[in-house]
Amino acid sequence: MSQKENIVLLNGKYVSWKDARIHVSTHGLLYGSGVFEGIRGYQDRSKAQVNIFRLREHVERIYRNASILRLKPPVTADEFSDGIVEVVRRNGFQTDVYIRPMIYFGEGGIGIKPKGHSTDYFIFATEFGNYFGEPRPLNVCVSSWVRGTNNSMPPSAKISGSYVNSMLASVDAMEAGFDEALMLTHNGYVSEGSGENVFIVKGGKLITPPVSADILEGITRDSVMRLAADSGIQVIERDISRTELYTCDEMFLCGTAAQITPVGSVDRRTISNGAAGEITSRLMRAFESAARGAEKRYADWLTPVYE
Ligand SMILES: Cc1ncc(COP(=O)(O)O)c(C=O)c1O
Repeated sequence: MSQKENIVLLNGKYVSWKDARIHVSTHGLLYGSGVFEGIRGYQDRSKAQVNIFRLREHVERIYRNASILRLKPPVTADEFSDGIVEVVRRNGFQTDVYIRPMIYFGEGGIGIKPKGHSTDYFIFATEFGNYFGEPRPLNVCVSSWVRGTNNSMPPSAKISGSYVNSMLASVDAMEAGFDEALMLTHNGYVSEGSGENVFIVKGGKLITPPVSADILEGITRDSVMRLAADSGIQVIERDISRTELYTCDEMFLCGTAAQITPVGSVDRRTISNGAAGEITSRLMRAFESAARGAEKRYADWLTPVYE
C-alpha cells in the first residue's frame, strides 16, 4: 500500500493522507511544542495478526509528557489507545508497522505562550521494516553536538522541538560516513543515540547510562533490561565514559525504530571484531521472540489489532 493511501486520525476524524493538513499558525509547528511517540506493530509468526508493542506504556508516556508542556489532550488515554489500534485496523496493515501519535498546541495566535491555541492530536501509521536498512553492525561516532539537558530542552519528555538536537547529530554523522551519532552529556558522559538508548557489555554485564544522563527513558531499554534480567544477565545503570565506548566487549543501540542493533565500531575503533557480540545476539533473539508473540511470559506486552 502506498503511504499516500493511508488513513490518518486527525482530531477525532479519520481522514485520507492528503487531507491530513494543519494550519500555518500551529504552535507546535512554530515552536516545536508537541509531544510524540513512535510505536511498533509486529506481525506475529502466523502473519495473520499485528500486535502493537507495549501500547499501554507508550500512551502513559505521551500523557505524562503532555502534562510537562501543560497540554490537555481532548481525549482520555483509553480513547487515545483505541485510536492507535483503530488506525492500524482501518488501514488493514498485514506487515510490521510504525505508528506516530502526536499531541500539540494547534492553530491560534503568534505568541510564544500557547494561550488561545487549541490542543490537537493526530495518529498515523506506515509500513515499516529495519530502521538502519539491511541488518549489520553499525559504524557510529561520538558527535560534537552535546545532548540537550533536562533543564533546557528535556530529552526525557520526547518534545518534537528538541529533536533538532538529534537531527543535527545524526545528519552530521551520516555526512561524515557514519550510520549514527552518539551524544555526550554536558558533563562529558555518554547519553544516547539520536533516536536510541545505548548499552555496552563489559565482563558479561550490561551497562547503560542512567536517566540522569539526559536520556529518553526508552520502552525498548526497559524491555531489554527485563529480558536480560530474565536470562540471568546483570544490568547496571551508571555513567559511561567516552573511552569505555572504545574498549567495551560489545555495544548495541535500542529503540522502537532501531529495535536492538549491534554496533561494530565507534569513531573507527572496532568493537567485538566488528560483529554482533554473544550477549547482544542473545538479546536480539529474545526480543524478536517476545515482539512476535512467541514467548507467553511477555504476552502482556502485546495488543492485538485484528479480531
Ligand atoms: C532520543 C531517543 N532515545 C531513545 C529512544 C528509544 O525509546 P523507545 O525505546 O521508547 O522507542 C528514542 C526513540 O523514540 C529516542 O528518540
